[in-house]
Amino acid sequence: MDKFNIAIDGPAGAGKSTIARLVANALGFVYVDTGAMYRAVTWSVLRSGLSPDQESEVIALTERLDIRLAPGDQGQQVFVDDQEVTSDIRSAEVTGNVSRIAQIAEVRRILTDKQKRLAADKGVVMDGRDIGSHVLPDAELKVFLTASVRIRAERRFKEIQDQRSEVTLEQLEHEIATRDRMDEQRETSPLVQAADAILLDTTNMTIPQVVEHILGLCRSKV
Ligand code: C5P
Repeated sequence: MDKFNIAIDGPAGAGKSTIARLVANALGFVYVDTGAMYRAVTWSVLRSGLSPDQESEVIALTERLDIRLAPGDQGQQVFVDDQEVTSDIRSAEVTGNVSRIAQIAEVRRILTDKQKRLAADKGVVMDGRDIGSHVLPDAELKVFLTASVRIRAERRFKEIQDQRSEVTLEQLEHEIATRDRMDEQRETSPLVQAADAILLDTTNMTIPQVVEHILGLCRSKV
């Protein structure tokens, strides 16, 4: 199959990263998790003792950071200035602040430029919130993945029980709904389904079913 780009967008916990990674593996494409980039900036901001409200300092820091994504055994590994932060960027503190950082237009511009460069040679499966609508408007296939808030919270609950054993399902549901609202309501490239994206509600689908469905779309589209 010739190389082309696939954009996978959707709200928090819709299974985008798992599915994008499996689709990329099946096609021999490169997987790019753009949420990990916003998380890496947020992790660096917090570690530097900055508050997300110190916008000019956050922008200057973002410009200096070397964020690198590399394929690993357990999914994608994330490095900031050569320090591995793969699991640190999934902490509750980073998750609670990332949508605030993602509202800063200049941070988005810096990361979007990087994302466009990563996809320039095609053969990329990129997941995020604004990939089909803004980062890769010419992607050959765009999928908007969604599921009910309850089911997304249940999936996330199972996933993170080891790291955050104190968290309840209700708290997770609230966190996810708050993050969705901030992502949908921000001024710069909000979370939105691109006009030419295919909507896939995965509430009643298993991961292999979703992956197979997207691979079928690849076969029929390209
Ligand atoms: O995908 P993930 O849930 O890890 O993304 C974390 C946060 O990063 C999102 O809630 C959103 O605020 C931000 N993000 C974004 N645009 C993207 C990817 C992620 O604003 N393309």
